[in-house]
Amino acid sequence: MSEPLNQSLVWDVLRVTEVAAIEAAKLRGRGDEMAADKAAVDAMRSELNGLDIDGRVVIGEGERDEAPMLFIGEEIGTKKGPKVDIAVDPLEGTTLCAKSMPNSLAVLAMAEGGSLLHAPDIYMEKIAIGPGFEPGLVSLEQSPTENVKALANAKNVSVNDLTVCILDRSRHGKLIEEVREAGAAVKLIGDGDIAGVIQTTDSAETGIDMYMGVGGAPEGVLAASALRSIGGQMEGRLTPLHESHYERAAKVGIEDLSKIYSIADMVKGDVIFAATGVTTGQMLDGVRRDGDMIETETLIMHVSTGSVRWVKTQKQVNIEA
Ligand code: FBP
Repeated sequence: MSEPLNQSLVWDVLRVTEVAAIEAAKLRGRGDEMAADKAAVDAMRSELNGLDIDGRVVIGEGERDEAPMLFIGEEIGTKKGPKVDIAVDPLEGTTLCAKSMPNSLAVLAMAEGGSLLHAPDIYMEKIAIGPGFEPGLVSLEQSPTENVKALANAKNVSVNDLTVCILDRSRHGKLIEEVREAGAAVKLIGDGDIAGVIQTTDSAETGIDMYMGVGGAPEGVLAASALRSIGGQMEGRLTPLHESHYERAAKVGIEDLSKIYSIADMVKGDVIFAATGVTTGQMLDGVRRDGDMIETETLIMHVSTGSVRWVKTQKQVNIEA
């Protein structure tokens, strides 16, 4: 295991997600998901390559043969700095950005080399709640009804007072029905489960008490990186939905698909997590242009220093950073 990440890398990571968000934001509402994603990927990669790190992409845009940039295994940075694992989702919520809908983000986690789970590009069943509860209060080993009841009990409220965030997908039909039958409200989101998970950490502000359901496994590791800094509980279990998913899991050496991953299983060492808003959402403002100024908002956290910052940056347009 390498050393904890130097504090100065926080500012480097911040710059990377800011630049990716600014480039993606130029394509908000244009109906072109691929172009918006590419803009974010290009910007993120070019910034990352200027950093004094010996980085390796462990969660990226896909396998080398299907992703020209930020592919899994790509080496990144000047190699003059520490060995780090990089997990990226340059544009989380490509559809949200293309439709100019809330909550699309540019997301990156940088961790000590060898400390991030190499999650295959398949699905993951997830459950998450905010901080301050007894470990193991909710679990994928319990039914959704048991989980909402346990949380209501711990919060000393009625199940009726809880809201569970779930991705609006047909695969969640039964889950949604059960949660509603148990008495909790369901907040359906079209996309963006990294934000869905993070929002559980401030339920008073966001109105989301719990996240449940099946989303991307890479997004699961990124969300776990955030929760590792900000607090909260999360579990994930890989969920192959297609034949090819078994092969992808085997390729990264994962054989036991029934394993339930805790946050510590997904993110072992020090980590810096950053998310910059592309479109304005509940958690972060999107990129704003005001005359010559461009403004971004970023949530950035660093485990080893225990820091959680919301950073608003204003930059003059046409001035190189
Ligand atoms: P993209 O940014 O790749 O479009 O992912 C958005 C997202 O909603 C993720 O937040 C989520 O984990 C995943 O897609 C769910 O996958 P699917 O859309 O296939 O259900």
